[in-house]
Amino acid sequence: MSILFSSKKVGGLEIKNRFVHSGTYECMATETGEVTDQLIKRYATLAKGEVGLIVTGYMSVLASGRAAKHQTGIHSDSFIPGLRKLADAAHEGGSKIFFQLVHAGRQTIPEYTGQKPMGPSSVHIDPTYLVKPREMTASDIKEVIESYGESAKRAVSANADGINISAAAGYLPNQFLSPYHNHRKDEWGGSDENRFRFLMEVVIAVKKNLPQGMPLVVKISTNDQSPGPGVTLETAKKHAKWLAELGVDGLEIASGNLLYAHMTMWHGDVPIKELVQSLAWWKRPAAWIVMKRMEGKYLLKGPWNLEAARSIRKMTGELPLFLVGGIRDVQIMEKLIENSDSDFIQMCRPFVREPFLVKKIQKGEMEKVSCKNCNRCLGAIANHIPIACYYNGLPE
Ligand SMILES: Cc1cc2nc3c(=O)[nH]c(=O)nc-3n(C[C@H](O)[C@H](O)[C@H](O)COP(=O)(O)O)c2cc1C
Ligand code: SF4
Repeated sequence: MSILFSSKKVGGLEIKNRFVHSGTYECMATETGEVTDQLIKRYATLAKGEVGLIVTGYMSVLASGRAAKHQTGIHSDSFIPGLRKLADAAHEGGSKIFFQLVHAGRQTIPEYTGQKPMGPSSVHIDPTYLVKPREMTASDIKEVIESYGESAKRAVSANADGINISAAAGYLPNQFLSPYHNHRKDEWGGSDENRFRFLMEVVIAVKKNLPQGMPLVVKISTNDQSPGPGVTLETAKKHAKWLAELGVDGLEIASGNLLYAHMTMWHGDVPIKELVQSLAWWKRPAAWIVMKRMEGKYLLKGPWNLEAARSIRKMTGELPLFLVGGIRDVQIMEKLIENSDSDFIQMCRPFVREPFLVKKIQKGEMEKVSCKNCNRCLGAIANHIPIACYYNGLPE
């Protein structure tokens, strides 16, 4: 039997194989964040495909932190019945499910949050959202930390098996960790230790509300690709060590950010036509020029976070690692596990194209997943179209 089909524990939870569906914004919730039948069906299908663990798309912990129009919400008790259906759908197919908790911070627009986006500091207008956030007050910070804890409590009520906190991809925890975004002079900024404090408090608030053995994984950025000094591999190594000391049960190894370098998060082709058409007419000419210049610069050549994972492994020993980004080849998947570069094979776009890929690998019918890295699925969600493989083009 391939090592890919051996089970592995994360915290007190056994995952039946090494395949993990990576957090993927589905664009399937209602505009106020409720779970829909379409969303439940997506997770039921993935579970039928034998994936060991499903990490959901990001869920908003507060209305002020909503990141997208059709993002699933976990910021009110009223969401719990819908979220429970989501977890049940995964369980009926035999998969485990982690809910991913996110506050977008500055990485959003007032249309989604109903207010001016906030961040650790009021600095820079970013080129993606054209937002210069307002600086968070001490009570904003307290409220957001508490909201992560409350959301974890709701996840437990909704039968989730674990939690994934995204401290990557440019969302609020990443903003606090980054000297590029965090210019604070109080206890929340000014040194690596102080910049880590927000994530530390979030982890403590979440863990406090999880039953013994229920796992918490943190998605970390090993290089957030900011235009100025931000999170680097050196700071990420410290974050990993501190998170291990806090008792998290695993680390997802990622990189990149949406604000300044969206292609660094996925690599592959730049879906220029689809992304440009998602923008207001007056932004289109400049966006077209910028994206044209990106073409060919981020081609997907393999697992791009592998070297970072090896560095993190040296800091955290046997703590389960979830490598994500560009894993496509079955032989490489096996080698990653055999060499202890990662404990799990985490993928996003391959599952969008082929929800049954784990079954195919198990039957020996697949040497390489067939996702073409064209990124039209990404173009789809930018246009508020539910996630699917749109290799042949978006619906008219
Ligand atoms: C359409 C799309 C939506 C995504 N949504 C999320 C998300 O909700 N949460 C998250 O942590 N990452 C998200 N990501 C990033 C993926 O989880 C993953 O880190 C990245 O796509 C690289 O993995 P891959 O090469 O297997 O696609 C998204 C990526 C894509 C393409
Ligand atoms: S649209 Fe399909 S082929 Fe293209 S990146 Fe997305 S899943 Fe892969």
